[in-house]
Amino acid sequence: MTQKTSAPAKKPSAPDPEKEPLLESPPEAVAAPFGMVIFGALGDLTKRKLIPALYNLASSKLLAPEFSVVGIGRDPLTDEAFRDRLRADLTEFATVPIEPATADWLFERLHYVAGDFTDPDLYVRLGARLTEVDAKHGNHGDYLFYLAIPPSFFDDVVGNLGAAGLLKEAEGQWRRLVVEKPFGRDVDSARALNKMVGEQVREDQIYRIDHYLGKETVQNIMAFRFANGIFEPIWNRRYIDHVQITVAENVGVEARGTYYEEAGALRDMVANHMFQILALIAMEPPISFAGNAVRDERVKVLQAIHPLTPEAVLTDAVRGQYREGVLQGEKVPAYRAEAKVSPASNTETFVALKLTLDNWRFADVPFYLRTGKRLPKRVTEVAIQFKRAPFILFRETPVEQLNPNLMVLHIQPDEGISLRFEGKVPGPSLKLGTVRMAFNYADYFGARPTTGYETLLYDAMTGDSTLFLRSDMVEAGWQAVQPILDVWGALSPRSFPNYDSGSWGPKDANDLIERDGRKWRT
Ligand code: BG6
Repeated sequence: MTQKTSAPAKKPSAPDPEKEPLLESPPEAVAAPFGMVIFGALGDLTKRKLIPALYNLASSKLLAPEFSVVGIGRDPLTDEAFRDRLRADLTEFATVPIEPATADWLFERLHYVAGDFTDPDLYVRLGARLTEVDAKHGNHGDYLFYLAIPPSFFDDVVGNLGAAGLLKEAEGQWRRLVVEKPFGRDVDSARALNKMVGEQVREDQIYRIDHYLGKETVQNIMAFRFANGIFEPIWNRRYIDHVQITVAENVGVEARGTYYEEAGALRDMVANHMFQILALIAMEPPISFAGNAVRDERVKVLQAIHPLTPEAVLTDAVRGQYREGVLQGEKVPAYRAEAKVSPASNTETFVALKLTLDNWRFADVPFYLRTGKRLPKRVTEVAIQFKRAPFILFRETPVEQLNPNLMVLHIQPDEGISLRFEGKVPGPSLKLGTVRMAFNYADYFGARPTTGYETLLYDAMTGDSTLFLRSDMVEAGWQAVQPILDVWGALSPRSFPNYDSGSWGPKDANDLIERDGRKWRT
């Protein structure tokens, strides 16, 4: 995430997404020559996200001519067959119409090595191939190793890369490792993973991706808070009543039953994506936008999450699992009836939590977090509810009709920010009505169809670690959910499945917030 200033954006009179240039006139510099190595080159992530994102970066002229990719997968394929396969996938997953010249530019830089990730010989062959490809394209011996693979292979791939000397940085060259979540499944496994990776590379060579940080609206939380003088003074316990962070999905577990059975919503969404949003909302202003300065402040928020006692887990953490139901007019099956899911599964597909932070800015301000699958709609948002006006002048208006100010950061699918406040309803008497002021990204900045990986890839290529997770952040996230994992692991849920598909989750989730005299937004 490069820090930049730009001229104030003018509101286009009639924004036309069709006419917006892709990744509009980037002031960013072309990434210096390097080679990218993708483990899992025939997998879903590569075809759905990485190649379309590389295409978008190529189209924005952010990749140097001396860029190349070596993909690694199990199937024996020639370079040509590999290119043909990804070219076909790109037509399906590109976020913009494909220009043949740009696609040709990208695909002629793609190479392939087949092998088994656990076989040391693969890494010997990879080393030889990299030398060959470097001689052809001029990668300068700088490599980004992208692990688009299941975590069970992390050990093998990182260990073998290290043993083959491929992670060693010669004078003036760099080697970086990009890893995707999950980073462990609890505190102990995360520590063990960090330790294992730390034996092969320095912390500053590791880029742990949380794809939520690739979302423009998530990145904008920092811009919104720290580029504007008017919000920071009220961004604290004095003015904020509570915060609600919702990540609702209407999809079920899809084809990922095997993974999800082992994960569940707490591990899948809370300990990473939701905590990263929480960190951006609650962090102190960093001393600069340099990678570690920002990450130092984000990690402090996670470390400040008040540890839940086992008793508090019973009241302040709610789990749920969807049963069958109707969603957008269609009948959908129960979680327990999904493919690769046990018919007696106790895996949670919904979590609601009440957390507090042990710091001066937010002490006693509840943060309510809620995420689930098969909820009525797909929506990710942060709602910041301010305290009521201190003194009710409007005696004729019943207090419950005076809505407190509410600021909502709409992360997806709506992208924008809205503010709710009270206004006078026109007429002879002083009557109040609630109004909403809204900013929509698309209206101001145009619609930019991207994969969400462009910024993350570009940052990893250019060595900007701001948007990536450091080992201490990963461990702090697990530390905060560990008491819940422990209690839930020890006590089977009593009433699973406990919410209908298409509803807003189990009744206990409503009790959790209503007990405090508050309500979830729906
Ligand atoms: C992934 C989870 O990390 O994020 C999925 O494993 C979830 O279960 C997905 O569906 C949500 O991502 P997004 O970007 O669609 O909100």
